[in-house]
Amino acid sequence: MTGLPPLPVTEGLGEGMLAALAGMPSPAGVVFTSRFEHDLTTVFASRHAVAVSSGTTALHAALAAAGVGPGDEVLVPALTVVMTAAPVVLLGATPVFVDSDPGTLDLDYADAAAKVTPRTKAIVPVHLWGRMGDPAALRVFATELGLTIVEDAAQAAGTSRAGVTAGTVGAAGCFSMKDGKILWSGEGGFVLTGDSNLAAHARAFRSHWLQPPPGSRPQEQVALNGRLAEPLAALAQANLRRFPALLERRRAQTAHVLRALAGACGLTPLQPAPDETWNHYAPLLDIGLPNPRAFAEHLAQREVPSSTGSFHLVPCDARPMFASGGRAVCRGAAQILDHTLALVLTEHDDEKVLDHYACVITREAAAWRT
Ligand SMILES: Cc1ncc(COP(=O)(O)O)c(C=O)c1O
Repeated sequence: MTGLPPLPVTEGLGEGMLAALAGMPSPAGVVFTSRFEHDLTTVFASRHAVAVSSGTTALHAALAAAGVGPGDEVLVPALTVVMTAAPVVLLGATPVFVDSDPGTLDLDYADAAAKVTPRTKAIVPVHLWGRMGDPAALRVFATELGLTIVEDAAQAAGTSRAGVTAGTVGAAGCFSMKDGKILWSGEGGFVLTGDSNLAAHARAFRSHWLQPPPGSRPQEQVALNGRLAEPLAALAQANLRRFPALLERRRAQTAHVLRALAGACGLTPLQPAPDETWNHYAPLLDIGLPNPRAFAEHLAQREVPSSTGSFHLVPCDARPMFASGGRAVCRGAAQILDHTLALVLTEHDDEKVLDHYACVITREAAAWRT
């Protein structure tokens, strides 16, 4: 079995943070944020990058900048975390949950089309586990219906499909740098966009509309503090330099686990699409065992972490704040989540940890009868 690439060097990781700290207090300081944004535009080949305090704020700022507001409807896959839908609600709009295709994990466009109304303003595709849907199909759908695309690429840094980088398919792409993401800064996020007007709105939104976009006056709109703290911007910039190494390590880790699980009873790796360059965010396996969600929970109790077993990920339309009596549930999303073992990795997981996970999973799968 091939070895993992080494843990990307952490030496020097804190230097930028120390420099940022040395310049503090500097209440209006954006030196490190600006540098980080500049580097983002280079790495992701995007015209604009707006650094913010979290992935949730990235979505909030991008949707606000895209003009989503009270009375609008926004198509959101049920196959996502609550953070995708929360900003829609906070803007006074309504998330309309769309199903996903269990065969591809991509949006179920027939379901999406059936849910479009004259109030539908935008669509927020989510590249859960770093897996990306077909960008051409998304663009055709959105263009035909005049919808703005705001991608939730929180988990998808490093993924592309048919040569299109996740986060650059539509008007804006939103990323999280929460711990555990491949590109991390503890907390943080950013918006990528090719639209200078949208970028200017997102910038105004992240800082109380103090510096308004062209055509607007300072504080003409209510906005938030969604700024990325300078020391975290410095850390993010340092990690962006390590990003190729971090990505290579995650790819190797996921490949390692999947190889080690090759003979495991009832577990089949999910394959990316042929034209997809997947960031390998999480080893993904279809659980072909009875009561699959309980199996993931059982593994979590044995310290093998996963999206459903440890974090109880359920379709967003089934969450209490969104559950509504009359509406049909998104069955494809529920099937995907019930049947997918999505292991949670960090860059620190070495061969020993990964082999231990594989060993526990193999043993428990062989014994599983429930
Ligand atoms: C798919 C997805 N969307 C949005 C978010 C929100 O990002 P954050 O936690 O940085 O606010 C996350 C974070 O876990 C995520 O995984």
